[in-house]
Amino acid sequence: MTMRIYVPRDAAAIACGADELAAALKVAAIARKLDIEIIRNGSRGMAWLDPLVELVTPEGRIGYGPAEPEDADSLIAAFAGDGAHKLRIGKPEDQPFLKRQTRLTFARVGIVDPRDLDDYKAHGGLKGLEKAIAIGPSAIVDEVTKSGLRGRGGAGFPTGIKWKTVADTAGPQKYIVCNADEGDSGTFADRMLMEGDPFCLIEGMAIAGVATGATKGYVYIRSEYPHAIAAMDAAIEKARRANVLGKGILGSAHDFNMETRTGAGAYVCGEETSLLESLEGKRGTVRAKPPLPAHKGLFGKPTVINNVLSLATVPIILAEGAEHYRDFGMGRSRGTMPIQLAGNLNYGGLFETAFGITLGELVDDIGGGCFTGRPVRAVQVGGPLGAYFPRELFDTPFDYEAFAAKDGLIGHGGIVVFDDTVDMRRQARFAMEFCAIESCGKCTPCRIGAVRGKETIEKIIAGKDVTRNIAVVEDLCQTMKFGSLCALGGFTPYPVLSAIRHFPEDFHGTPQRIAAE
Ligand SMILES: Cc1cc2nc3c(=O)[nH]c(=O)nc-3n(C[C@H](O)[C@H](O)[C@H](O)COP(=O)(O)O)c2cc1C
Ligand code: SF4
Repeated sequence: MTMRIYVPRDAAAIACGADELAAALKVAAIARKLDIEIIRNGSRGMAWLDPLVELVTPEGRIGYGPAEPEDADSLIAAFAGDGAHKLRIGKPEDQPFLKRQTRLTFARVGIVDPRDLDDYKAHGGLKGLEKAIAIGPSAIVDEVTKSGLRGRGGAGFPTGIKWKTVADTAGPQKYIVCNADEGDSGTFADRMLMEGDPFCLIEGMAIAGVATGATKGYVYIRSEYPHAIAAMDAAIEKARRANVLGKGILGSAHDFNMETRTGAGAYVCGEETSLLESLEGKRGTVRAKPPLPAHKGLFGKPTVINNVLSLATVPIILAEGAEHYRDFGMGRSRGTMPIQLAGNLNYGGLFETAFGITLGELVDDIGGGCFTGRPVRAVQVGGPLGAYFPRELFDTPFDYEAFAAKDGLIGHGGIVVFDDTVDMRRQARFAMEFCAIESCGKCTPCRIGAVRGKETIEKIIAGKDVTRNIAVVEDLCQTMKFGSLCALGGFTPYPVLSAIRHFPEDFHGTPQRIAAE
């Protein structure tokens, strides 16, 4: 009988030796004259267990991890015998980290073969698109609006309203653009989704096309994601051959085709108008709004631009109905959020759950505190433009409005944890430096302000005129916040001001010399 084994093809697992492990497992099986089939799945999202090997047994899939190429021979021996092995964890779905999740957007990631359209269909794939074709454009927009889905790229704008604007705007050519630039620190959900369930994003984009009348789509993927690009390209090709993409998709009257485009590595190219400039082959600088991309977007045509997670969530909303999705969550944050736990944590990874879970639960209970064994001191939520939260704010529920009320943001759902050795002056300096490096240069508060902000924080670190210079930084932050054209300059004050406000003791600490960092 053929031994069926799953080994992730996810980039993080590959970085930990998954490719070498897959090859070694094959060699070990051949040496024992065993027939073996290795399926390369996405990651289950438990980073500390990757590469997680899974053996298909009559009782279900049994996990072994983290496995190294050197473990291949003993693993094959165990698989051929009673399955006992020091790396055995039992069924992955019984791990508390997975058991506590509600996986809607990530329902198939780690489970299916990302390159197999039949496997996708066998796990509920294409039901959303079939339903979308059956109910037609305006009912699709209604369903997405009713679900309460808000953009997962950071701004949290209602997806249904965006789609309606494009649907209502006349034009001979419209576009669906997927923002897969994923530049935020500590985020990896877009990558995991594209590598682990690329057909889901294709389905979501096709539904957006049917809803708005757009016939062409682009996925703008950062160049640092070669595995995601390969996964998307392979899936797009298969989808084309199966008429999920192309003329008259799934035998309907709707045409929709799509392709990937590779970004060149600027953080600001994640900002939607910069991204459109870049897609058009120009330098990535921010466009003034209006006009909105929904009216005049790519090549001046009506364009839906959505994050990977927003688009990949649409198929389940259509398949299961708006109520099913909307019933999860709290307040105006409906459904689930694929939260990314990163930084100094024992249990980092992808944790999808309904909105409403507190920051403390995520960091202490699920993340298991700091990997270094030291106390958690600060948590940055929402990427490099997100605020630093101290332990006193750990009761904040994961919810757009609750975070905004505490001068923070949930952004794309990235959480980066720091222990008590962090120097918050340096984190504040880093925020300004990051903005100075990544600024597109279009507006003065950001282009000049970030440079002056970094210089002034360096004076504070050196112990020069500290109280006065803190006031200068606070004043500068107000100018950046209210005078910048986009959120890069406009939100850099969040990490800076939160560091000053919640960790004042650091700013009056021992003077230090700044070496080049
Ligand atoms: C500096 C900057 C970087 C951004 N980077 C990203 C990104 O990497 N991915 C993303 O989806 N949105 C990013 N955004 C937000 C986008 O401008 C836009 O709001 C989003 O793509 C809209 O999709 P959504 O409604 O599905 O969230 C960024 C915004 C700014 C200001
Ligand atoms: S805030 Fe910065 S990145 Fe945004 S438009 Fe102005 S200069 Fe460009």
